[in-house]
Amino acid sequence: MKILFAPLKGLTDAHFRSFFFRHFHGFDGAVAPFLLSSEDEALRAQREGTAGPVPLIPQLLGNRTEQLISFAGLLRDEGFDRFNLNLGCPARVVIKKSKGSALLAEPERLSSLLTELSSQSPLPFSVKTRLGYYDTNELRPQLKNWKDLPITELIIHARSAVQGYTGPVNREETLLCAREWGRPIIYNGDICDREDYDRIIALLKENLSGVMIGRGIFHNPFLAEEIKKGTSLEWAEKRERFIDFHEDISGEMRTRPKSFARLKGLWTYFSSFARIPPGELERMKRIDDPDLFCREAKGWVSANLR
Ligand SMILES: Cc1cc2nc3c(=O)[nH]c(=O)nc-3n(C[C@H](O)[C@H](O)[C@H](O)COP(=O)(O)O)c2cc1C
Repeated sequence: MKILFAPLKGLTDAHFRSFFFRHFHGFDGAVAPFLLSSEDEALRAQREGTAGPVPLIPQLLGNRTEQLISFAGLLRDEGFDRFNLNLGCPARVVIKKSKGSALLAEPERLSSLLTELSSQSPLPFSVKTRLGYYDTNELRPQLKNWKDLPITELIIHARSAVQGYTGPVNREETLLCAREWGRPIIYNGDICDREDYDRIIALLKENLSGVMIGRGIFHNPFLAEEIKKGTSLEWAEKRERFIDFHEDISGEMRTRPKSFARLKGLWTYFSSFARIPPGELERMKRIDDPDLFCREAKGWVSANLR
């Protein structure tokens, strides 16, 4: 079963991925956070990310065939052999422009876009989507129009767009979508431990070719490795390896105010792994001295990962 690393814009950029994959294993591929335009800067950032040990799939966000095709051509020139199309982003600024998950609310337009892209794109593409825009029953009827297209993979985040990132995932509807699709899908949404993973495998069975893990990497960065090994690693090993990772990634991030702010942002997520109480995290975020902040973070890891 394939395990993919989810795109998390603002968190899992090339810099983060390069350190993460140096210390944590088990992922078979990674989808990069979405790109909006064909600016050289964006391509350069993508290129940096391809050098890592985990194959990288760039993701595009758009609603115009010509623009997507032209960007796909640039990606091909950069050496990429496929891309992922974002049909799931619920951010207001994206919705306003009728991109991301907004397209799920316009089934005919979306179906035409996918049909045109399928016949004209210079690269094969996969789709990452949700179960619907307003409700989780909206994707399934649309799949009837997509299922004969050469979409290489269907990744489903088991929520509607209006749910955002909270509220219950609808695994049963995801199973029905997979049956409608007629090919195995990749499941995404709230996989934070091995029990979550086992539950998905048990429910979707042969309808599943893989899972994608997003926020679960912060809850337990060893999760993919533990799933692959079928067992949990010793706390002593996790403690040591996490501290090594943190030393590595924080080295450069301590040196500039902007990147120190980003490091603090990462700790909003890693705090669940290190079991830092919310009040303590808020206090830590007010620390101005990067070395003191890192010492405190390490202190929580040493004390609680056991
Ligand atoms: C901060 C943040 C940024 C995200 N950025 C992207 C993105 O660039 N592209 C995308 O397809 N999904 C994006 N997502 C959605 C995740 O890839 C994933 O589908 C979602 O978090 C559910 O999976 P999880 O429960 O495993 O985190 C983002 C989610 C979060 C919380």
